[in-house]
Amino acid sequence: MRTRFCEVFGVEHPVAQGGMQWVGRAELVAAVAEAGALGFLTALTQPTPEDLAKEIARCRELTDKPFGVNLTILPSIDPPPYAEYRDVIVEAGVPVVETAGSNPVEHLPVFREAGVKVLHKCTSVRHAVKAQELGVDGVSIDGFECAGHPGEDDIPGLVLIPAAAEKITVPMLASGGFGDARGLVAALALGADGINMGTRFVATAEAPVHDNVKQALVRATERDTDLIFRPLRNTARVASNSVSREVIEILATGGAFEDVRELVAGARGRRVYEEGDPELGIWSAGLVQGLIHDVPTVAELVERIMTGAEELVRDRLGGLVRS
Ligand SMILES: Cc1cc2nc3c(=O)[nH]c(=O)nc-3n(C[C@H](O)[C@H](O)[C@H](O)COP(=O)(O)O)c2cc1C
Repeated sequence: MRTRFCEVFGVEHPVAQGGMQWVGRAELVAAVAEAGALGFLTALTQPTPEDLAKEIARCRELTDKPFGVNLTILPSIDPPPYAEYRDVIVEAGVPVVETAGSNPVEHLPVFREAGVKVLHKCTSVRHAVKAQELGVDGVSIDGFECAGHPGEDDIPGLVLIPAAAEKITVPMLASGGFGDARGLVAALALGADGINMGTRFVATAEAPVHDNVKQALVRATERDTDLIFRPLRNTARVASNSVSREVIEILATGGAFEDVRELVAGARGRRVYEEGDPELGIWSAGLVQGLIHDVPTVAELVERIMTGAEELVRDRLGGLVRS
């Protein structure tokens, strides 16, 4: 099952692993590449641009298949040196970058000049159209179901993806809520050229996080996420725990970001993955956790999705059509 996403981005399967803070490291990304899908190292997980260069080199030691780097550009009072991270990506000859967070316009000329393909991830039709006008090579559209930042429009993929498909002509991935063959087939039916997944890849053998986190995803249902930062209009979908509930409570009763800053600190979230206590901080998880029942290897997962999708199309859907 190949789509134009595979042709444009040079991968075997129409499946991507989006950037994931603290999780998108060489072990996972190399496993995704080896499985024939498109994995992204997460630039800002590396403390400096030099560390990103080393992580790219480490990933190349683990695979000779293509992989990309995610560059998440968020407005910040004290922003990381985005241009330096970008230059590392270009100088290392990484073939594809996933941009996210905000408009990538400032970085596009450098990527284009260097022949780096850009897959821009966004959460609305209007932002996808804008990115297409700016000349990106593909878009990934995160629906309301997704882990991380779903935006403020609250449009689930069932409407968001076909609405985008009416306007998008470059290859498009559906993202948010995908985790199995049924999701891939549904995404293709809705007009996407493949799927992007985050949460499902966290619950794999190769994801460099504590096993307790993977087991927490297996145990959780689709009802066990929270939306934090709603009143700040910077909504994030995270695993529901005592910290997320405290943050919601503080902001709902008139608190400001300053009042939750310590609770939501990235360093605390990082400890969740390293120490395996899901209550230590805030960590991203999507609704799809309700569909996660095991911790396969990445190769098993991708194979299961691709084989299952082919069977679904041929047997279940094909069987519904009368000749
Ligand atoms: C643990 C975790 C961390 C994430 N961090 C980032 C990030 O740093 N940058 C980004 O663009 N997306 C990030 N995401 C979002 C994913 O790349 C992807 O768009 C999203 O997970 C898709 O929804 P799903 O989880 O339902 O598959 C993160 C997701 C997870 C689960």
